[in-house]
Amino acid sequence: MKKQIDFLIQGVKNIKEVGALTRSGPILCKKMILPVPSDKDVVVVELGAGDGVITKHLLKKVSANSRVISIELNETLFQKLSKIMDSRFTPILGNIDDLDKILDEEGIILMDHMVSAVPFIIMDNDYVINFLNKYKTRIRKGGSFTQVHYGFKRKFYEKIFGNAKHHFVPANVPPAVVVESTIV
Ligand SMILES: C[S@@+](CC[C@H](N)C(=O)[O-])C[C@H]1O[C@@H](n2cnc3c(N)ncnc32)[C@H](O)[C@@H]1O
Repeated sequence: MKKQIDFLIQGVKNIKEVGALTRSGPILCKKMILPVPSDKDVVVVELGAGDGVITKHLLKKVSANSRVISIELNETLFQKLSKIMDSRFTPILGNIDDLDKILDEEGIILMDHMVSAVPFIIMDNDYVINFLNKYKTRIRKGGSFTQVHYGFKRKFYEKIFGNAKHHFVPANVPPAVVVESTIV
């Protein structure tokens, strides 16, 4: 409950940046990482990690030699994120605008999966289209992109990735949709 309240405070203070008042619930977290395998080593880049609620599910799921790199803009949420201690995990206080530099610094040419909770819905449409078109080329073929939304945007992602599944998660507060695209 304390974590929800702390998140709510950040959401109220910075709604345009955080984009939500509640952190993802467990069912939503599991749906967000559905395409990420447990039985092979992968590099996962997480955008908008918040206090690490999805990150913890990722770290429970991925193999011993996988990597999880999680980027978060809000300093207060980042402080909590960076308390996660796991040798496979790299928390980064930063902006997805600087993703090229972050990937370079982490020595990542191609990632296997990108998991995003960044509030694209309240960001400039052209920015989001350019961002996704650019970074889909940095995800390995057969890998995936997942995005949480609080509305249906299948066509938007289908145009960019050529495919998009929607998983509706009514049990989340508020009900959410996970968009899942495979990199082809
Ligand atoms: C809807 S919250 C999701 C938090 C957490 N992953 C969860 O599922 O509960 C979106 C997060 O994206 C972060 N964010 C927003 N814009 C960002 C940006 N440009 N770069 C990095 N993180 C950003 C916000 O600070 C916020 O923590």
